[in-house]
Amino acid sequence: MAKQYAWSNNERERDRLARQGEQLRPATEKLFRAAGTGPGARVLDCGSGGGDVSLIVADLVTSSGEVLGVDRDPDNVEAANRRVADTGLSNVRFEIGDIADPPEGQFDAIVGRLVLMYQPDLEAVLRALADRVVAGGVMAFLEFEHMSSAGVMMSPQSPSIEQLSRWMTAGFEATGVPERVASRLPSALRSVGLVPQPPYELSGRLSRRRRGGAREHPAARAVGCADRPRHCERRRT
Ligand SMILES: C[S@@+](CC[C@H](N)C(=O)[O-])C[C@H]1O[C@@H](n2cnc3c(N)ncnc32)[C@H](O)[C@@H]1O
Repeated sequence: MAKQYAWSNNERERDRLARQGEQLRPATEKLFRAAGTGPGARVLDCGSGGGDVSLIVADLVTSSGEVLGVDRDPDNVEAANRRVADTGLSNVRFEIGDIADPPEGQFDAIVGRLVLMYQPDLEAVLRALADRVVAGGVMAFLEFEHMSSAGVMMSPQSPSIEQLSRWMTAGFEATGVPERVASRLPSALRSVGLVPQPPYELSGRLSRRRRGGAREHPAARAVGCADRPRHCERRRT
């Protein structure tokens, strides 16, 4: 069981999230588009961190839509609100809150990235969130699938990547983050009355930075095993 979100929520962590968010942006956008998030939608972003996911959603819902990001960390919320103020967007805002007790109101879409993996009671959180989705609305999450026993899906194997995976396993074990959160999502979402929408995707990007610089080597990009987007529709009643 996850004890809590163990990474410190400071400027350095938000910077790490933003860099990670750039890598995950294509998969995130693809998932939300597939889930039908479009102009005019009212969207809740769960565990909004530095605001990266909310800003992607803001592009999709356009100025006629609305985005509310919720994070339980006050510093993250303040930083995300500052960031949005700098961009001049008036339809995106962030609030302190726990997604186990979501904000009042109904949303056309409830989304999140790398947040369900940190919830001690995944089903309880999904149940609470499902209550906030309008009939015919969607929930779409992109989560990490860590499989220590399966090793890393790559060929040829890389000793340094294998070592990284072992460190991640140790870190997740120490902080109580369970394995296989992403692959549990379809059944967990079904258990709270939603209808999973296949195909499920295994996607991610591996990229290598040039020594001494931040530019990616185009030839070093690859599809890899990193994240599994999932989306689900709420049954129309
Ligand atoms: C790995 S970060 C991901 C941030 C963002 N979704 C992204 O992809 O850039 C996880 C975030 O979820 C927040 N979080 C974790 N559990 C939460 C909960 N139960 N309620 C609200 N926020 C939560 C943490 O404070 C942290 O900011």
